[in-house]
Amino acid sequence: MPISAGIDALALGLPRRHVDLRDLAEARGVPSSKYLDGIGTVRMSVAGPEEDPVTLGADAARRALRLGGVDPKEIGLCIVGTETAVDHSKPVAAFLHGLLGLPSACRVFETKHACFGGTAGLMNALDWIASGSARGRAALVVCSDIARYPLGSAGEPTQGAGAVAMIIRENPRLVSLEVGRTGSFARDVYDFWRPLDRKDALVDGQFSVQCYLDALSGAYADWKSRAEPTDLPLARTCYHVPYGKMARKAHRQRKILDGLSPEAADATFATEVAASLDFPSRIGNVYTGSLYVALASLLHAESRAIAGQRIGLFSYGSGCAAELFAGKVEESAPALVDHLDLEAPLRASERITIAEYEVLRRGDATADRRPAESTPQPAIPGEPRFLGVDSGERRVYG
Ligand code: HMG
Repeated sequence: MPISAGIDALALGLPRRHVDLRDLAEARGVPSSKYLDGIGTVRMSVAGPEEDPVTLGADAARRALRLGGVDPKEIGLCIVGTETAVDHSKPVAAFLHGLLGLPSACRVFETKHACFGGTAGLMNALDWIASGSARGRAALVVCSDIARYPLGSAGEPTQGAGAVAMIIRENPRLVSLEVGRTGSFARDVYDFWRPLDRKDALVDGQFSVQCYLDALSGAYADWKSRAEPTDLPLARTCYHVPYGKMARKAHRQRKILDGLSPEAADATFATEVAASLDFPSRIGNVYTGSLYVALASLLHAESRAIAGQRIGLFSYGSGCAAELFAGKVEESAPALVDHLDLEAPLRASERITIAEYEVLRRGDATADRRPAESTPQPAIPGEPRFLGVDSGERRVYG
């Protein structure tokens, strides 16, 4: 009997601010239809100096634990997938361990492979459960990132920031995943990279799109080679979403691989993918978290319609690595999704002007080195804030 393990609870953590891409298009002298329709994004979240992958991750994790009704003492594994970590040595997971009050008998580490890092953490958590190492405990997997490209570059409208926290355990309430039946693909490519001294990513944009599509074909073929005659079709598929148009291209390619014409492939998009792109179009790229933002969007919009059905998930990380896997939306999902109110952080976000956004972005270079004592204490008690560094270059959180 295969083990039932997967996503038991899920929550998002977002920066307090966002840019409307109509404002960005106007400032960059580009027709707004290029960003809204050509790229498929309406807003992008922007992190301020008091927000970083630690605070975003802690915010998401606190919400997942509290609204999911999970006691931090139940967590035996804490993995943070990120490609925008705050220290070359100390993992974001160690900061979360402290901020969340996780037990000392807990395995804690960070995973990196561009946007695939969160999925690497998720797969590790599933294997930890399947191996018996969990001994009834749950894993906390957090995907947290700030996507940055240079101001005025082609990548600028595909930025974003945020975190997704997932509680992974046996007999999950949201989505049970098919452990051990994933399809993988890897290839050494330079499509997107970020040298150690840089905050902004470098990218070979059009090549990265092709690498993503090649990786999808490879992972899908590997996944299909494991198909069984009793497998249900995929009612919905969530893709890694650097921007909405990329997911649309990915879905078309997958359907063409199934033998559909491009027109017939596109005709399935509204039913099988569109609902998963609402949150991503209002947040932007969250690198490691993007696939799981898409899953949150799907569950928020359609958990009642798809309860009991099989869904697909495709994760891509530049460099590159990809994995395609499937799961079942549990009958218990709709009631829990109502309670989790996955959209709440999106509603709380405040629109800022392009001038304010540019001031924030220019401050990025020095934000990590500002003295903690120069920062006022956070206005909202209980919300983690990055205050700066102390005289020993230790990061201080309020
Ligand atoms: P660009 O120069 O804006 O590209 O860069 P474009 O000129 O090809 O335009 C994009 C689309 O807008 C095209 O549609 C145009 O036709 C359309 P498509 O042909 O693709 O269907 N368009 C318009 N539509 C409506 N009205 C108009 C209009 N004008 C043009 N007026 C690019 C686009 C994505 C390359 C750039 O934004 C970029 O470099 N982004 C960053 C890289 C990226 O996101 N790559 C995705 C794959 S790699 C990945 O997903 C991994 C990643 O998440 C990182 C990680 O793994 O860590 C990035």
